[in-house]
Amino acid sequence: MTLPDITYTLRTASPAKTRAEAVVVGIGQGAKDVEVPSCAEDVKAAYGRRWRGMLATLGVSGKAGEVTRLPAGDEIGAQLLVLVGLGKLGADGTYSTDAVRRAAGAAARSVPNATSVAVSLPADTPDLVRAVTEGYLLGGYTYTAYKSGAAKSEGNGPSDVAILSTIARRTDAVTAFEEAQILAQAVAGTREWVNVPPADLTPPAFADAIAHVAGLVEGVEATVYDEEQLAELGCGGILAVGMGSAAAPRLVELTYSPEDARGHIALVGKGITFDSGGLTIKPGSSMSTMKSDMAGAAAVAQATFAIARLGLPVKVSAFVPMAENMVSGSSYRPGDVVTHYGGTTVEVSNMDAEGRMVLADALVRATEVSPDLIIDVATLTGHMVMALGDRVSGVLGSEEVVDRVLAAADVAGEQMWPMPIPEWMDERIRSSKVADLNQHDWIRWGGGLYAAAFLREFTGGLPWAHLDIAGPSFNSGGASGHLTPGGTGVAVATLVDYVREMATDQ
Ligand code: BES
Ligand code: MN
Ligand code: ZN
Repeated sequence: MTLPDITYTLRTASPAKTRAEAVVVGIGQGAKDVEVPSCAEDVKAAYGRRWRGMLATLGVSGKAGEVTRLPAGDEIGAQLLVLVGLGKLGADGTYSTDAVRRAAGAAARSVPNATSVAVSLPADTPDLVRAVTEGYLLGGYTYTAYKSGAAKSEGNGPSDVAILSTIARRTDAVTAFEEAQILAQAVAGTREWVNVPPADLTPPAFADAIAHVAGLVEGVEATVYDEEQLAELGCGGILAVGMGSAAAPRLVELTYSPEDARGHIALVGKGITFDSGGLTIKPGSSMSTMKSDMAGAAAVAQATFAIARLGLPVKVSAFVPMAENMVSGSSYRPGDVVTHYGGTTVEVSNMDAEGRMVLADALVRATEVSPDLIIDVATLTGHMVMALGDRVSGVLGSEEVVDRVLAAADVAGEQMWPMPIPEWMDERIRSSKVADLNQHDWIRWGGGLYAAAFLREFTGGLPWAHLDIAGPSFNSGGASGHLTPGGTGVAVATLVDYVREMATDQ
């Protein structure tokens, strides 16, 4: 169970008349005064002449993220009124799905102990219904698996949530509502895996967890390769990185192959269950969040499950290489030459550039199923965090795939930005005097671009994009909107929207 046990319903009810314990109502930020969206109109009318003064006294401005709670009298049916800021109206005179998703996330944390809540945010299109549902489910996510006693259920929230929408009876609204719940579960499932302490999510444990979920999702087949099978296959990169750990490496492959498939996408995700940096060890401050170095793996596995549960008519092949990058007498070392799956040799020099080593094997495996394209997702470089910060992912690779990823990210409400792979990187990755490729060179600048140039060597010339999610995969700060502390589940929504779009291709 990754999300609290809540029953969600989609209803046309009026927010003023609803009998829930708490009613959450969206309020916008106008030029001088608050802006009252149609979803708040009848509550405003119920308060009549007292509305304006009451909001002014409480200092309600409608700015994004603002939450104001007040006990309601006889004016409305609910006992508690919660006003949630939507920010300023968009240029087109509506609230964006992003603004609504964020407000719904804040709303979810506003009434942790109410047993029934009604949510009245802008929801008069299917896309907005989707945004309210996703935002509310994800904003309420908490990680309590390792809390004891009362703290375990703290903030578990209400058991009954009604999303109010004027189009609640339309089938496209109901579909959006149901699909949003599937997506939110996949994002929450990703967060959950990222949050598990690394001692309890070793490669074998992580592989078992993915195989277990795959067994519950109709249409998804999982194959797990252990260290002996990886040796037989010749997956030298996964084995080299895993060599220093007491926990053996794994490769998990998933397939979802619907009969009416209109395309075939291969997904590859970096699954380093803990990254100490190996013999080129990280300083303690950089190591502290490295349990999250499997966020790409979790995202592609959960995206595959969501795509299957949504029944999208696209074949998905997912490849998830897993290893723990540790320091020991058996660690791989600078100067070693690794032979990857498929035969390419690589001279290694920085044991902290381990992500590309496990991804290389998995990418070659991906080319063998002849997909239309490959997308890999990885917490690959600190360079990308330096460049784009902790809320924006870098996207590199073939132009047409990069463009489509950016478009999908926009729909999904995830911030992504294109980065180049300069042509001179080609020469640098080939500069090894002993092997085909150089894993790393000591020019620090543009390390995220070098990493992508390296990965491209293993994509067999297929259309491909690489998502570097090193920054956005883990939130070291507090909750904000639908974002909660710890694992964020970034990239799941973008991958699902990418595939949803592929399904409409001719
Ligand atoms: N897992 C890290 C990248 C990372 C950094 C993820 C910060 C999340 C937050 C990766 O394996 C790594 O160590 N990359 C090196 C690359 C370098 C050795 C070329 C880095 O960022 O310094
Ligand atoms: Mn590393
Ligand atoms: Zn790493």
